[in-house]
Amino acid sequence: MLKNSIDVCPSGGGVGAFIEGIDLAELDESGAGTLRSALGEHGVLFFRDQNIAPEAHIAMAERFGGVNVNRFFGHVEGQPQIAEVRKEPDQKANIGGGWHTDHSYDQVPAMGSILLARETPPAGGDTLFANMYAAFDSLSDGLKATLEGLNAVHSSRHVFGAKPKNPDQREALKGRIGNAEAAQQDAIHPVVIKHPISGRKALYVNPGFTLHFEGWTEAESKPLLDYLYQNAARPEHTYRFQWANGSIAFWDNRATWHYAVNDYHGHRRLMHRITVEGVPVGR
Ligand code: SIN
Repeated sequence: MLKNSIDVCPSGGGVGAFIEGIDLAELDESGAGTLRSALGEHGVLFFRDQNIAPEAHIAMAERFGGVNVNRFFGHVEGQPQIAEVRKEPDQKANIGGGWHTDHSYDQVPAMGSILLARETPPAGGDTLFANMYAAFDSLSDGLKATLEGLNAVHSSRHVFGAKPKNPDQREALKGRIGNAEAAQQDAIHPVVIKHPISGRKALYVNPGFTLHFEGWTEAESKPLLDYLYQNAARPEHTYRFQWANGSIAFWDNRATWHYAVNDYHGHRRLMHRITVEGVPVGR
């Protein structure tokens, strides 16, 4: 794949770019370099018509880092590196139906995920993305300075652990999410990180996995976190991606949040997700 044959077209929304002129089954090092830079700049890359085989999906992911085998998700039969994000017609709960960034509970959070649509509902099932550079840049200088001195505590326990915050949701996801005993991860990260690819400042807290600011109680943290969350999710900072079979979204967890919209009851949605290892996040 020649580097100069790849087109990077900004989504027109608050985050993300569409990539054209590429066959991800044939991705080489030069093409991967172009995508890496585009990912650092745009946060999430969208591709159409990439009905690639599971082996090619894995090979593509490995161009960007080691594969992180998800501890909690079911996986594709015979392919432990590929997690399944599935909702059947008779199921009501979906996976990822709230703003979050994956793996912020890990000491070394995953760099990103490559989500491939295998079966999409006739309508709905979009994914929203939000821009964490904009979530930081849009704050006042005073609040930016305060946040730059803070760390936050992130955890997987209340989501994937034995005592989840929402037991009904967990029960509804039985068979799709499991291994609660592996939910032992807590991690402390700066609230504002220097993005490992772009060098830009990004807000690094999220409603899914952040518990509180380090040294603050949950009650003390909540008002400020709520303010940051509503500002981050402002429509100006987001883009809503509509899937079709063979679409891929490749997002960077350090630059974006995502939210899987659960509006397609009665239809199947089946996605294959590979998560790519990251590097420690720092100021
Ligand atoms: C996820 O949170 O990884 C799932 C996103 C989606 O299914 O759109």
